[in-house]
This record gives sequence, C-alpha cells and structure tokens, in this order.
Amino acid sequence: MANKKKTLASKADKYKCYLASVQSPEHEIDFFNQAFKEEFGRKPKTLREDFCGTYAVCCEWVKGNRKRTAIGVDLDPEPLAWGEEHNYSKLKKHEQERVNVLQQDVRKANRPRVDVLAAQNFSFWLFKTRDELLDYFRIARSNMADESIMVMDMMGGGECYAEGNVDKRVIKKGKKGFTYHWEQGTFNPVTHDASFYISFKFNDGSKLKRAFEYHWRFWTLAEVRELLAEAGFSNSHVYWEIEDEDGNDTGDWVKADDAVSNPSWVCYLVAVR
Ligand SMILES: C[S@@+](CC[C@H](N)C(=O)[O-])C[C@H]1O[C@@H](n2cnc3c(N)ncnc32)[C@H](O)[C@@H]1O
Repeated sequence: MANKKKTLASKADKYKCYLASVQSPEHEIDFFNQAFKEEFGRKPKTLREDFCGTYAVCCEWVKGNRKRTAIGVDLDPEPLAWGEEHNYSKLKKHEQERVNVLQQDVRKANRPRVDVLAAQNFSFWLFKTRDELLDYFRIARSNMADESIMVMDMMGGGECYAEGNVDKRVIKKGKKGFTYHWEQGTFNPVTHDASFYISFKFNDGSKLKRAFEYHWRFWTLAEVRELLAEAGFSNSHVYWEIEDEDGNDTGDWVKADDAVSNPSWVCYLVAVR
C-alpha cells in the first residue's frame, strides 16, 4: 500500500517560504528612511514598490505612520493575489485605504509621484540591454517627486560568477524546519546572462526545487550608475554594510566610494532624482 503521508514540501507555500527567507520589510523601510533623511533632512511619506510581488513592503510601509501611502506595481496576478490574502488582509482598514496596487508593467507613468521608488531584489536585472534599462530608469524617474530617491540593490563578488555555486541558509529549525538555497545556475561571461534559482529543502528531506527562477543580466555597479546618470538622475550613492571586528554584518549601511572586494556581497544603490 502506498505511503500516503504528505511531505513537508507538498504542504509548503512557496511565497511564505520566500518571504521568510528573502524579505525583511521592516529593515528595508528603516533603510529608505535613513537614505531619504540623509539626502533631504526629512522623512518620506509616499512609496512606490516596483516589481512588488506580494507587496509585503507596501503593507509594512503604511503600518508605520498614518501619513504614509504606498503604490505596488507588478505584472503577475499570482503573487498579487497571494499578497492580498496574506499581507493586505492583515492590515487595519485605515492602513488598507493607503495601499494601491496596480497590475501593470513597471514601465508605465502613474500619478501621484512618490518620495521613494523601490525596485528591489535585483528585479530590474531582467532588463538585459542598455536601451531597455535606460528606458525603465527614465520612466521610473518620471514617477518620482522633485525631492525623491530610487532604492535598488546590487550583488557581486567572484563567487557570484561561479556556476553551480549554492548559498544555503537555515530559515527555520526543528522537525518542520527548512533551508533556503540560492543557486547560481549559469553565467555567460560573453553576455553576462545569468540564471539563478531559489529552492527550499525541508527537514524530512523533501524539496521545493527551483520554486523561483530568474534569468537576468548580471549588471555591475559602474554600468548601472552610468545609466542612472544618463536617465537624468542627479546623483547616485552606493551604501555598503558595516562589518563588526569579526567580519560579521551589522545591518548598518554607510555611503561608500570604495569597498573590500568580498567573494560575495550585496549593497544598496540609491539614485537621487
Ligand atoms: C524577483 S521578483 C521580486 C518580488 C519582490 N519585489 C521582492 O523583492 O521580493 C520579480 C517580480 O517582478 C515582476 N515583474 C517582472 N517583470 C515586470 C514588469 N515588466 N513590470 C512589472 N512587474 C514585473 C514579477 O511578476 C515578479 O513578481
């Protein structure tokens, strides 16, 4: 008789696993506030989250302050529906009223213009040519208020170019726990085309293999900053994470014009309109 016991993977929700592994909306918002305040000496109120997926950052944003409003933009109805059920539904009514979700291409101009435009988790890397990325940056800039910043993240380091490299992190311990796997699948040194996969491995041995996959161009900071300038942004800053004496990340970020060439790094890139 077949064993009918369900595996942990078969019962898992890939978006829940993603949220627990990859996103930290509170920390993102702390960073938006820090970068905006350093530029303009005041706090931002309006946010647009491009490539918002389950719009977890929008939902967190409106919780903090009654003056804050958020616009989430994504093409795909599936993560948007998940976000409505699991993130938006948990908000209070006055918070929900300040979130607006648009199922559309990020390359569309909308009003009102915002203080902070976030395009995170490397999502803009799906634009693979200079022309496409420049076009996106020009439109993004047109969606931003006169005093505003665009916040992105970037990654790099030698390990990121090593095909088959898998970065593993335990997300939840115990019998029902799981591990997050970030796989650098392929990298083409001629075009910089790169494929990445996210898998989740559960403590009963079952797996959600390649639950998410990304086929991107591996952009470098220098290229992206040049394109931002070409798109009309007045300035851009790289924020590098401060390490403690033992080399551990602290969660604190400072502007940097120079940094240690770690084998694998992630940083923020902030463009000033
Ligand atoms: C890597 S996920 C990022 C999700 C979320 N921002 C996060 O940080 O976890 C990329 C998202 O971008 C969306 N997307 C891809 N191309 C898009 C486009 N041209 N316009 C709007 N959304 C797009 C996908 O549907 C997907 O939800």
